[in-house]
Amino acid sequence: MNIIDGKGTSIAIQDELKLAVAERLKKGLKRPHLAAIIVGDNAGSRAYVGHKIKACEYVGFESTLIELPKSIDQKGLENEVQKLNSNPSVDGFIVQLPLPEHIDSQAILECVLPHKDVDGFHPINAGKLSLGLPGFSPATPSGIMELLRRYDIETEGKHAVILGRSAIVGTPMTLLLSRNADPGNCTVTMCHSRTQNLGEITRSADILIAAIGRAHFVTPDMIKPGAVVIDVGINRIADSSRKSGSRLTGDVAMHEISADWNGYITPVPGGVGPMTIAMLLTNTLDATPA
Ligand code: GUN
Repeated sequence: MNIIDGKGTSIAIQDELKLAVAERLKKGLKRPHLAAIIVGDNAGSRAYVGHKIKACEYVGFESTLIELPKSIDQKGLENEVQKLNSNPSVDGFIVQLPLPEHIDSQAILECVLPHKDVDGFHPINAGKLSLGLPGFSPATPSGIMELLRRYDIETEGKHAVILGRSAIVGTPMTLLLSRNADPGNCTVTMCHSRTQNLGEITRSADILIAAIGRAHFVTPDMIKPGAVVIDVGINRIADSSRKSGSRLTGDVAMHEISADWNGYITPVPGGVGPMTIAMLLTNTLDATPA
């Protein structure tokens, strides 16, 4: 089994970003500035945003965290987004998802100015991605492309199977892997909850991307020998051996895969998650005027 080290790769990218920031400052250019809006007190969201802010410090970006109460209404949240849109110091920002149920999330994402939309969630950026035009791509699929690139994984003509059709991962992943680019040029099959004969399809995958959000859904019998398996799942399961009583695990039953299986796999944690942060920072640097 070959482990694809997302954590190490993320640190390598962050070290490159740190150098790029130092170069900018030497030239008298602005320090990149990422802001994040978080609404409510969802523990998972707080932890993710905390990691993003910490990574900003590491690479030398300015960062701003805007914490808002769960009770904020649509108009109030839209006002906060507009403030960041018009703040010339802020180069890019994100609104951490999920938002409370009474908020229309799509309407909020559409308020973000596309050139500050470093999450790549605005329809303008999603449309640009689908047309192959330059714009911001969502950080998780971009991070996966970067892992394939840095691990020199051959993608041309390969069969990539994507489990999940979300706007954040499955859909942009399908577009990026099928692009006429390197990495890219895959033949892509996108699977979802209504897909029939799923095991048959996954067993034919040279590259298997699991992004369904169900712990250990992908079992060894669903994986082709020598495949590249990318596990996007972040699922919390009970674990009495931990002080917290739980731990994070992926969509792939990695513990059931034999050590002599000759493929590549991303672990959870330490695989795709850290890459998402590295690519968010990369997008923020790209959003900062030269
Ligand atoms: N929630 C889960 N993933 C993400 C992400 O990449 N960006 C934001 N803003 N919220 C998320």
